[in-house]
Amino acid sequence: MSREETARARGLRTDYCGELRSKDVGRTVSVCGWVARRREHGEHLAFVDLRDHTGIVQCVVDGGHDLRAEHVVRVTGELRLRPEGTVNDAIPTGEVEVGASEVEILSVAEPPPFSVDGRVEAEEPVRLRYRYVDLRSERMQHNLRVRAEVNAAIRRSMDRQGFVEVETPLLWTPTPEGAREFAIPSRLQPGSFYVLPQSPQIAKQLLMVSGFDRYYQIARCMRDEDLRADRQFEFTQLDLEASFVSQEDVWEMVSDSVLEVARAVTGEEPPPVVTMTWNEALDRFGTDKPDLRFGMELVALEEAVAGTEFKAFQAEAVRAICLEGGAELGRGRLDALTDRARKLGAAGLVWLRVVGGEGQLDLESPVAKFLSTKEKAAVIEATGAGAGDLVLVVAGERAPTCRVLGQLRLDLGQPPVSERPYRFCWVTEFPLFEGVDEEGNPVAAHHPFTMPHPEDLGRLEADPLSVRSQSYDLVLNGWELGSGSIRIHRADIQRRIFALLGISEEEAESRFGFLLGAFRYGAPPHGGFAYGVDRLAAIMAGEESIREVIAFPKTQSGADLMAGSPRSLPASQLQELGLRLAPPKEAKGA
Ligand code: AMO
Repeated sequence: MSREETARARGLRTDYCGELRSKDVGRTVSVCGWVARRREHGEHLAFVDLRDHTGIVQCVVDGGHDLRAEHVVRVTGELRLRPEGTVNDAIPTGEVEVGASEVEILSVAEPPPFSVDGRVEAEEPVRLRYRYVDLRSERMQHNLRVRAEVNAAIRRSMDRQGFVEVETPLLWTPTPEGAREFAIPSRLQPGSFYVLPQSPQIAKQLLMVSGFDRYYQIARCMRDEDLRADRQFEFTQLDLEASFVSQEDVWEMVSDSVLEVARAVTGEEPPPVVTMTWNEALDRFGTDKPDLRFGMELVALEEAVAGTEFKAFQAEAVRAICLEGGAELGRGRLDALTDRARKLGAAGLVWLRVVGGEGQLDLESPVAKFLSTKEKAAVIEATGAGAGDLVLVVAGERAPTCRVLGQLRLDLGQPPVSERPYRFCWVTEFPLFEGVDEEGNPVAAHHPFTMPHPEDLGRLEADPLSVRSQSYDLVLNGWELGSGSIRIHRADIQRRIFALLGISEEEAESRFGFLLGAFRYGAPPHGGFAYGVDRLAAIMAGEESIREVIAFPKTQSGADLMAGSPRSLPASQLQELGLRLAPPKEAKGA
């Protein structure tokens, strides 16, 4: 069936509600949908707004029909122009109405728990309890359709680039992402468990050993972690892996797909994806998730205040951001900013109001007296601040100092999620390890299969925390969309990494033995990536929470309020699985 024919196969109706226009006037049409609103019109007639997935059309029906909110009906009649003065510019069908000659109630509805038109925002628990009603709203219809467009665009791009879609198991075994796992008891092997995959990481690496060259999957992943606006237990990744590739090749492949997505959703050409190292992102934006939609970049002031008498500025790093027009902020706001900086871990926050006129700018602040005229001039010069601006300075160790200012930058300047353009950004050369654990072993920043930077391999044991990796993140407007890396395909390097991480040979063998075993049979060099489709779809739909682009999400506490999960199981089912429940936690030790 062609696309057009499919569109014409409309079942019980001739047209969709939201598509009727003045050019259709005079035709006899049948439309089906839900009653959105009913208003009485004189003694014998009623106006009924009928809603389907395309929008709303007004029908004029005999007042005798018992048409209540959310009843499902089919209306047949002649399409006509609305009388002059009653045209509704707010909706696309506002010029026309269906003069109903036949009204058929297809199903009746109890009064809905909240109104679908969104004029009164219902509380989220009620929306989730009655999700099937909530999903009728224009907002949710739009969001899930945006999400479907995202998936379609991803598939187009992957297909064009020669990727093959392979499905991998959900009943699986531990994966290396490091979150808590969901376990499924086995009936046939009592006492044994499957583990739900946190990602298809190991499976996709095996597919590279299997010679698939380019794999992808729009993959469901499961992680038992604390839920937040951008986190669910179950989520979806665009997961890909490719053989015989460099990092740059992977970036190009992934960029192609996200740009295809942005183009599909907006109909506009998005700005090209930029690339910066992790170090540069920290210095310029104070974060590894830079939002490039606005300026206010961090400025280094070490040179400007070199040799200063001012104790607070005698530090490894002295960094600043400049808030345009911020000199107006009163003491209350400035104190609040200082508190915020302290809470974020800074020793303090210095604020400097830029005052004066062209050519004779000065700084005004309780601490200005500790700065020499030369230092003040150098600070103004370095920050590029003008009269009326506010300079905020934090001093201390480099990384925490940058992070505090990075957060203040977001607090003061970040536009809402819905604000375009989409500024995709690759952050590269992440450190291989992020700090050390209680036993003094370095902790993998990505996962243990990540290839170190070739220039840093020599320092692996001597100075592990300084080693860069061949791992990279994709960031969109301040959100981490995804991560990936070039993988270790050589047994000798993998052994060194496991040793550093404190993973013994036995442990490595028991957890990842089947992957390491596969590598003995000829592993191509390979690398890949995964990004969160929920996160990408949320940003594309202009939503702050991924729950708004998931049909049936869990609440913050992990409950499905509609389906009633999680729930207890009948004793017979537990027995079949070989499970006996421990007493509830409160009772323990009592
Ligand atoms: P990582 O663990 O960084 O990498 O996950 C990749 C992306 O998946 C999304 N994501 C989530 N989205 C919603 N809810 C969650 N709980 C959640 N957890 C992760 C994020 C994240 O950036 N196997 C590696 C990738 C690779 O190396 O190829 C992996 O899973 O958008």
